[in-house]
Amino acid sequence: FPVEDIRNFSIIAHVDHGKSTLADRLLELTGTIDKTKNNKQVLDKLQVERERGITVKAQTASLFYNFEGKRYLLNLIDTPGHVDFSYEVSRSLSACQGVLLVVDANEGIQAQTVANFFLAFEAQLSVIPVINKIDLKNADPKRVEKQIEKVFDIPGDECIKISAKLGTNVESVLQAVIERIPPPKVYRKNPLRALVFDSTFDQYRGVIANIALFDGVVSKGDKIVSAHTKKTYEVNEVGILNPNEQSTHKLYAGQVGFLIAGMKDVTEAQIGDTLHLHNHPVEPLPGFKSAKPMVFAGVYPVDQSEYNTLKSAIGKLTLNDSSVTVHRDSSLALGAGWRLGFLGLLHMEVFNQRLEQEYNASVILTTPTVPYKAVLSSAKLIKEYKEKEITVINPAQFPDKSKVTEYLEPVVLGTVITPDEYTGKIIALCQARRAVQKNMIFIDQNRVMLKYLFPLNEIVVDFYDSLKSLSSGYASFDYEDAGYQAAELVKMDILLNGNFVEELVTIVHKEKAYSVGKNICERLKDSLPRQLFEIAIQAVIGSKVIARETVKAYRKNVLAKCYGGDITRKMKLLKRQTEGKKKLRKIGNIEVPKDAFIKVLKTQ
Ligand code: GTP
Repeated sequence: FPVEDIRNFSIIAHVDHGKSTLADRLLELTGTIDKTKNNKQVLDKLQVERERGITVKAQTASLFYNFEGKRYLLNLIDTPGHVDFSYEVSRSLSACQGVLLVVDANEGIQAQTVANFFLAFEAQLSVIPVINKIDLKNADPKRVEKQIEKVFDIPGDECIKISAKLGTNVESVLQAVIERIPPPKVYRKNPLRALVFDSTFDQYRGVIANIALFDGVVSKGDKIVSAHTKKTYEVNEVGILNPNEQSTHKLYAGQVGFLIAGMKDVTEAQIGDTLHLHNHPVEPLPGFKSAKPMVFAGVYPVDQSEYNTLKSAIGKLTLNDSSVTVHRDSSLALGAGWRLGFLGLLHMEVFNQRLEQEYNASVILTTPTVPYKAVLSSAKLIKEYKEKEITVINPAQFPDKSKVTEYLEPVVLGTVITPDEYTGKIIALCQARRAVQKNMIFIDQNRVMLKYLFPLNEIVVDFYDSLKSLSSGYASFDYEDAGYQAAELVKMDILLNGNFVEELVTIVHKEKAYSVGKNICERLKDSLPRQLFEIAIQAVIGSKVIARETVKAYRKNVLAKCYGGDITRKMKLLKRQTEGKKKLRKIGNIEVPKDAFIKVLKTQ
């Protein structure tokens, strides 16, 4: 294929605006998939993706299309739609020259539309606005056109109005791809330079890397090197995605396809890596970074006997997702487990759901935390820790104030788009989350776009749910990484009758210490069984008690129900009680059942 007949493009959209439906139609129109089959969202391969209707892993397809007597190769690069994966989105976009920006004709521009547009804009791509779902009764494409003009500065007459569901006007989308998106700028005579923009693991064939060729040619049998790991491999198979892998033995600059080269796990083919020929090193493509987890949570088997099963399930899932970090961890209450790092909350939920669905694992997931930093105060400490700034992902390792000049917390720039009537409530919610307003504009007569700088920690647990419920589901939210800011953080301990409970140490912002402490004490009170003596539950910072609850004494008489009679029944009951106790953890002389910890530690 001559380079000038190739187009590489992506579809970007807010959740549910119809990206997958449009992709299916494009695949059908180009004969890539059969129209008669029930092609519901062919590109969303994972079960969770289908269930939740969200795209998690990028999938890609090469389409062949005849237009005005010429045959074109259109590579559709499917990007993940969610903020958690914004690095993956921007890597996939760097394999493209243009995007279709899909906006729902009824809902209009939403937070993710804005975030995705700016990723494409920064990558200097041609943007083709597509207004979808014009068949809907409440569709108002004219209004959406105006929003697009106002927010993105794109002339309204460039919008293509379609119904992906019914197929209306979809052909003009393909024509716009050919006419408005430039062919890739590549050099086939130069030595190979290929971008890895996605990778998946196949049980039988190992790692399958999705690549975009910027320069040169790659053929079966070539020796290639990863610029990131410097490891050398022999190419076993290359080809195009149609949408399933179809070997072609060669790929040329400008093309997009797959490559299999004996890589054992996805960490060997990380997104953003550059591949080149052995003995022909090239300047790596810019911007490679390893995935940076922003949310950490403990994962434990519900029953310790399932430890090995869970271990192998986590191992298999991480083979497919190099962005999850895994550290072994253990908790006195929950036993042996792991501390996993995720790109964001959705990523964490999807991972958890895949563990349960695909591997049948039952897990306890603890409340997520964010990576805080502590700037060390003396040369001696820096030498001891071998770093100036230490990142704390486990609250138990939070360094004392005396060792630190300042603490830092991760922050994100959040975008909220909402109907005007909810603005007041949303501003109040953002303020309660310690967020600072950066911008506020009307995108049409009754829709507002708000920008806030949020401490990440304030949005990881339930911000999204609160936002949705106070706006009756109408507000949308998206965010991007915005680095770190200084924060007054404190370490809060929980004591039971004066005994320190290791698993409940929490890092909190000074302003939030009281409410967080109170909440933990209340949850503990509700889940601790009464015992022979009174139990004082205290939340403590340093030596200062900031919250307290009391569990009254109570004698649980297991024999009370037995009316004297049957001795074997009594014995059985006593035995059962002692067995039950094995699952308890003793803190001082207080017996705390595992369940109580789970109730306090778990995400609601
Ligand atoms: P994510 O994968 O979550 O990003 O969603 P998506 O953007 O891929 O949306 P998807 O294609 O899954 O469509 C979301 C819903 O909108 C589905 O129920 C579709 O059937 C519906 N839908 C898509 N296009 C149209 C359309 O043109 N008209 C109507 N009425 N519904 C549509």
